[in-house]
Amino acid sequence: MDAIEVIVAKRDGGELTAAQIDWVIDAYTRGEVADEQMAALNMAILLNGMNRREIAGWTQAMIRSGERMDWSALDRPTADKHSTGGVGDKITLPLAPLVAACGAYVPQLSGRGLGHTGGTLDKLESIPGWRASLSNEEMLGVLRAAGAVICAAGSGLAPADKKLYALRDVTGTVESIPLIASSIMSKKIAEGTGSLVLDVKVGSGAFMKTPERARELAETMVALGTDAGVRTVALLTAMDRPLGRAVGNALEVQESVEVLAGGGPSDVVELTVRLAAEMLEAAGITGKDPAEALRDGSAMDAWRRMITAQGGDPDAALPRAADTMVVEAPASGVLARLDAYAVGLAAWRLGAGRARKEDPVSFGAGITLHAKPGDAVKEGEPLLTLHADEPARFGRALEALAGGYEVGPTAQEHLPLVIDRVTA
Ligand code: URA
Repeated sequence: MDAIEVIVAKRDGGELTAAQIDWVIDAYTRGEVADEQMAALNMAILLNGMNRREIAGWTQAMIRSGERMDWSALDRPTADKHSTGGVGDKITLPLAPLVAACGAYVPQLSGRGLGHTGGTLDKLESIPGWRASLSNEEMLGVLRAAGAVICAAGSGLAPADKKLYALRDVTGTVESIPLIASSIMSKKIAEGTGSLVLDVKVGSGAFMKTPERARELAETMVALGTDAGVRTVALLTAMDRPLGRAVGNALEVQESVEVLAGGGPSDVVELTVRLAAEMLEAAGITGKDPAEALRDGSAMDAWRRMITAQGGDPDAALPRAADTMVVEAPASGVLARLDAYAVGLAAWRLGAGRARKEDPVSFGAGITLHAKPGDAVKEGEPLLTLHADEPARFGRALEALAGGYEVGPTAQEHLPLVIDRVTA
């Protein structure tokens, strides 16, 4: 087989055979198919799509490129959650220990932020001593000690996806539903979880800007998981505005701890409890109330065990940025709109995110929201606090925020927090 034949077949709108898919993924992983050839094939897929059989074959070939984890030694069901990424989306932090406190094991492989969306590992690394890289044996040890583990995927898991994702990132081929679905699901299936809840974000701060595109992605991923024997369900949730009141690494850890202590912003609590209920149902665990596990402190206990087992100090002070700047409400009225993308971009420019994979992040940088859309505000009172290590960053962050919020007589319509639920 040769790469040009496969590229031309997809360029001309044809279906790839199972043999072509297996060969091209394997040959690319081994370096026999060149980056420029794979980039051309990715673009042909982005433009012409893949059918369900092709997507399933593509996903399975990426899984076979590496190891498959196995949790059969554990005596309780496993459950995991994946979010397609958003602004202020720290839900994994309270959710993993919460679901563990309710009786499931949560082996969660997470990623780092790129662009305006944050990454779970960057957030947790703001806790002094906490380690993201664990061996498979260490993962098992943390799971046994705490019921939940959140760590980086090792280099052996879906290496084809690692190479492909890096290539897509620099060739304008990220936004293809078959490629996003197969990328996410190859890692989640290889991770070996028995059940999976997908949080597919919708709105300006998400990959998928409309409910229609998000539903298509959700249906594709649910079908892939189900076909691979993983009980999979997806929620479509709002990302037209930021989630919670904190955006930025240490700021989001702080907010997550507030949720685990029984407080925290209502949207973060509502989504955490809803996703926990979905995970428990998918894992076949009945008779547990996640809201009660937040109230009675058992979720907090699991959090403390999880952080400690990964070398972190749950009582240590979190990093704070050296400087702050307050953005005041320009008028009195109601915060009519606060755009998720504008806030995410501003937080990124303040230093919370990275421009290239190798860049460090500032743990203390980010944005605190003093009002959420629909809240009453008074002219001159704080609307947002910007946090940065270098004051020179404030100007570009303010530029990102310009036009990103509006104070008016009434709130504008926004998406419901949970828009839809997709099952097989
Ligand atoms: N996250 C992934 O892991 N892959 C994608 O393609 C997009 C988001």
